[in-house]
Amino acid sequence: MNYWNTPFSIRSYSFSRFVGSPLDGVTNRPFRQTVRLFSPRALMYTEICHCDTIVHCDPKSWGLQVGEEQINFQMSSPDTQYIEQACERVCAAGVRMVDINIGCPAKSVIHKGAGSALMADVPRLKEVITLFRACLPIPLTVKMRAGFKDHNACDIACMLEDLGVDALCIHPRLQAQGFSGDPDYTIVADIKQRVGIPVLVSGGITNSAIARSVYETTGVDGFLIGRALMGRPWLLHQLEVETQGGAYDVDRRGIHDAMLKHLEFSCAWFGPSRGLAYFKKHLKEYAAQLGLSKDENIGLLSSSCIDQFYERWRMLEPVL
Ligand SMILES: Cc1cc2nc3c(=O)[nH]c(=O)nc-3n(C[C@H](O)[C@H](O)[C@H](O)COP(=O)(O)O)c2cc1C
Repeated sequence: MNYWNTPFSIRSYSFSRFVGSPLDGVTNRPFRQTVRLFSPRALMYTEICHCDTIVHCDPKSWGLQVGEEQINFQMSSPDTQYIEQACERVCAAGVRMVDINIGCPAKSVIHKGAGSALMADVPRLKEVITLFRACLPIPLTVKMRAGFKDHNACDIACMLEDLGVDALCIHPRLQAQGFSGDPDYTIVADIKQRVGIPVLVSGGITNSAIARSVYETTGVDGFLIGRALMGRPWLLHQLEVETQGGAYDVDRRGIHDAMLKHLEFSCAWFGPSRGLAYFKKHLKEYAAQLGLSKDENIGLLSSSCIDQFYERWRMLEPVL
């Protein structure tokens, strides 16, 4: 078996080894649409969505396009209060796979007892996951960290498998590390040894050489790609091609077209004003690859409306 061209499975669903990681405020519906231009069948996580939001707001405010396929819809909850109702609504909206976030380090989330705070309160975590499992007839995964203050990911991973979770994703950093410092892949290797369900890794996977080396040391089933995807919506596809021995090159025209498509999707989903604001989070990355100068980039970023953005962009286009 060639690992790289064999999909991994979560229950009856099969996916390529490279998966879009959730990035709150970034990997929204327009971003996923842009990635799908290159990787139509890749699994992509949605951004974190709290159960109370699911209960009180409509699917569009959960960041969800009803009927969107190949997504792992990420939910979070500090306790059991809204879980039953939220699961009912999510299933009614046609979601086919759910992920529970127990790794978010943000103060606003952990103060409520959700995200990575759950890793420090194992009895409550058990209660929360047990209820999610009971309410969801679809595949259920959990995305976790190395631990909150202490490393307890291995024990938690075993507990989650016993509770019926179908797959895990490990981002091997403690809460206090946020998103920096070297991820400790030895934790992922230990978990992979101890559980029988698929184990995915998140953190620092930015190119095919790193993916290969992390596979060799951990034996993981798949890779979540987060920040490296920003401004590179083709990256999941590129990693797939390169790990299978192919060469992948994206030319300036390709970058340019992907960028404008991304902006178009963003404005269509959020409306022109918010659409431009969300798109700007990715602009720096696209602009760097297109060789735009700092001033040109600042000029685009300071566009106050979409018409002004396009006007400024048209002046740069001939140079590109
Ligand atoms: C801005 C930002 C937002 C994030 N939002 C989420 C989120 O909503 N849910 C989640 O599970 N992880 C979230 N993460 C964590 C990422 O999914 C990922 O685990 C982490 O960035 C490490 O992977 P990377 O090095 O590939 O970016 C976020 C990370 C960043 C930087």
